[in-house]
Amino acid sequence: MVKNAGCRPTKISGLATYVPPRLLTNKDLERLVNTSDEWILQRTGIRERHIVDPGVATSDLAKEAALGAIAQAGLTPKDIDFIVVGTTTPDMMFPSTACLVQNKIGAHGAWGFDLGAACSGFTYALTTAAHMVGAGTHRHALAIGADVMSSIIDYTDRSTCVLFGDGAGAVVVSPATDNCGIIDFAHEVDGGGGLALCMPAGGSLRPASHETVDQRLHYVKQDGQTVFKFAVKKTEEICARVMERNNVTGSDIDLFVSHQANRRIIMSAAERLGLPEEKVVINIEKYGNTTAGTIPLALADAVADGRLKKGNLVLLASVGAGFTVGSVLLRWSI
Ligand SMILES: CC(C)(COP(=O)(O)OP(=O)(O)OC[C@H]1O[C@@H](n2cnc3c(N)ncnc32)[C@H](O)[C@@H]1OP(=O)(O)O)[C@@H](O)C(=O)NCCC(=O)NCCS
Repeated sequence: MVKNAGCRPTKISGLATYVPPRLLTNKDLERLVNTSDEWILQRTGIRERHIVDPGVATSDLAKEAALGAIAQAGLTPKDIDFIVVGTTTPDMMFPSTACLVQNKIGAHGAWGFDLGAACSGFTYALTTAAHMVGAGTHRHALAIGADVMSSIIDYTDRSTCVLFGDGAGAVVVSPATDNCGIIDFAHEVDGGGGLALCMPAGGSLRPASHETVDQRLHYVKQDGQTVFKFAVKKTEEICARVMERNNVTGSDIDLFVSHQANRRIIMSAAERLGLPEEKVVINIEKYGNTTAGTIPLALADAVADGRLKKGNLVLLASVGAGFTVGSVLLRWSI
């Protein structure tokens, strides 16, 4: 658990997102597996998702989002000192996607690394970046959440292939100059849930072989109900903790921006936290679960819709494979 990032206050000074243009709709999936538009929409809230064309990788999506966020912050890539990329689908095992992004955007003064927290990738990256800037040792940091989930999805498995999409979001974290900025963080890990959502092969335990390919072990495997129950419980718990210790109630929160895995998970957590529907951002119908990309994509949509304005009190929440859990409370600063 973390409270107060370093010595000086920090804020988000730029936000941008990127999704690849190609759409994969529920109707398209009906042609691939035994599913229906109605089932997907009712059980998850998803209508369509964006997926990359062959040859487009996570660093390509991250690059577009990063350049947009840097421009919105009024900076250039040379102002960035640190890059953290939350991703489950790096371009390759190594080098890290952060290195590839650093080169692609020309942030020649920055160092950085990838962060493996699955669907909590963005909240973990934001907290990490805030600490780097908050410590006073870095001027501006990029926190990126980016995933090409279509690269690890089995499009013959109806229990997972309907859920995920590709996308990226980036924020620039800078020193705060007024009372708008990042207020508090909480994070947890429960490694006991590790096998409930994983990609079994391709790592050091089961290196790629003909056998692992034949057994389809290079794809996402999930025990959906276990993940669902954990996500509902933990989203509420971590948010309640952050709210309580900051003396904030549901009526103080202007916007609840949770990881977009399933509409039902978000709404049941919101209800338990006393957050009415008009304070909840849900855009899963357009993108599906983009893993580390969902929260910045939701923030960007809320800004575009006029629902998120400077000074608003925003509560972020995430639960992901690991299990990883995170919440960030902030006053919107752009
Ligand atoms: C995956 C998920 C949508 C499944 O919804 P669910 O309501 O739990 O559905 P169940 O797994 O109980 O399956 C119910 C039925 O629908 C079927 N089903 C599963 N996927 C289906 C699909 N795409 N289309 C049609 N039917 C489907 C099942 O086979 C099952 O049929 P049965 O009753 O004949 O056995 C849900 O469990 C979920 O969202 N889990 C969390 C996922 C998540 O958040 N992952 C990322 C974490 S960051």
